[in-house]
Amino acid sequence: MNFAFAETVPDGVDSIVVGVLDDKALTPSAAALDRATGGALTRAMAGGRFTGAKDHMLEIAAPAGVKASRIVLAGLGKAAALNDLAMANWGGAIAARLNGSGAKVAAIHVDAVAEAVGRPADHAANVAMGAELRAYRFDKYRTKQKAEDKPTLERVVVVTAARALAEQAHVACARLAEGVAMTRDLVSEPANVLYPAELAARAKSLSALGVDVEVIGEDRMHTLGMGALLGVGQGSDHESQLVVMRWNGGGNGDSPVAFVGKGVCFDTGGISIKPAAGMEEMKYDMAGAGAVVGVMRALAGRKAKVNAVGIIACVENMPSGKAQRPGDVVTSMSGQTIEVINTDAEGRLILSDALWYCHTQFKPRFMVDLATLTGAIVIALGTYKAGMFANDDELAAKLAAAGESVGEPLWRMPLGTEYDKDINSEIADMKNVGKTREAGSTAGAVFLQRFVGDTKWAHLDIAGMAWAKKDMPTVPKGASGYGVRLLDRLVRDNFEA
Ligand code: BES
Ligand code: MN
Ligand code: ZN
Repeated sequence: MNFAFAETVPDGVDSIVVGVLDDKALTPSAAALDRATGGALTRAMAGGRFTGAKDHMLEIAAPAGVKASRIVLAGLGKAAALNDLAMANWGGAIAARLNGSGAKVAAIHVDAVAEAVGRPADHAANVAMGAELRAYRFDKYRTKQKAEDKPTLERVVVVTAARALAEQAHVACARLAEGVAMTRDLVSEPANVLYPAELAARAKSLSALGVDVEVIGEDRMHTLGMGALLGVGQGSDHESQLVVMRWNGGGNGDSPVAFVGKGVCFDTGGISIKPAAGMEEMKYDMAGAGAVVGVMRALAGRKAKVNAVGIIACVENMPSGKAQRPGDVVTSMSGQTIEVINTDAEGRLILSDALWYCHTQFKPRFMVDLATLTGAIVIALGTYKAGMFANDDELAAKLAAAGESVGEPLWRMPLGTEYDKDINSEIADMKNVGKTREAGSTAGAVFLQRFVGDTKWAHLDIAGMAWAKKDMPTVPKGASGYGVRLLDRLVRDNFEA
């Protein structure tokens, strides 16, 4: 799908979309279209259910007075609530609708509405981005798709008086959408295709955008003493990989911001094997790593004025004759020893070495890790908010604000010495699980906290967010790309020169 911005509706458009506010209040472009069609919009709304409420749509077929074959009235809801996120969601809902209707070339009017929050140009750019995000598909393995199941929309023209500024604002939005799409591609790939070396190779492709990418294999991990990471991967025939991506868009010598991702390409549980039902979902256990790759791509793509490090720990957690056993003790790069009680609590093991490496190697301004770490966070928060654990209130507040503004909300969860004591081991410095069934997500978080030293740090448990079970305005069912927009916004609002 391609996007353009124009001041008027160009020729060749088959669908015209106009916004309607709450209580059937026509936006200026809708009012103009109503006049041009002899009142077709007003008539269509009379007596129907469409009120202009957010995301509600009404389609008018074969309208007289315009060349287009359909007009879509798209509900905007309350004018005062219109901000960048609302506009992205509106664009997403419209893209889904148009694809369902069979539209090929559409014009979407984005009017400057008086009470709206933010600049009209940003609104227009966000409508395009929302449409792009929602139109994402992962079709590469479907060879027999019927024509009626394929999306039709080829071109979207966003009509706005602020054309030039909207085009400018759209550049960063488009790079961000590319980052999200890359994450979704990575997370959607099955584990026979996307094993650790392949994930590393895809991260390597960011070097074309000026990202410096280094891949650390098992030999170097042994030298570095990464016994926790190595232990998880030792049952797999695929070599584990630690990938370090660096984007240097900031000042020379400015300490970087850092993102660390859990990249378990497949999580069988290992010897503590998972039940068969639903195990196929564990291909998305690398969604944290996927998000880190995606945000590095977005930052590099839009040439963000920041130094950023992205580190992903890539492994496959398999049972085999070489696999790690429950009860094994491993020594992490930090020197701390870990008793592995449950081989299915593997995310914290690989992240312990990745976080320690990040902390010691880069002394970053802060580290944020993203991980599909625990089923317990899904029990606690469901699929609407990710869990956030942080050792720094200011970082937590910035993350929460960024999440709110992009629609990837976070809910802060506790850390604390009481919980920390629960992971003490009889035989080693710690064990990789806490009390059975109690505060499972915090047990994972306090474990990670033992590997961040004095670096400001936040852990985002995204187990409930990585995979959408139903369509949402800017997220089609499937890999969500959660975290990319959030971290891009965190950087944009707080850490760019
Ligand atoms: N990858 C899983 C967590 C997960 C669950 C992600 C559901 C996405 C959806 C993680 O490695 C895991 O197995 N966690 C265990 C921890 C337990 C053994 C302490 C869990 O949550 O059961
Ligand atoms: Mn697991
Ligand atoms: Zn896992």
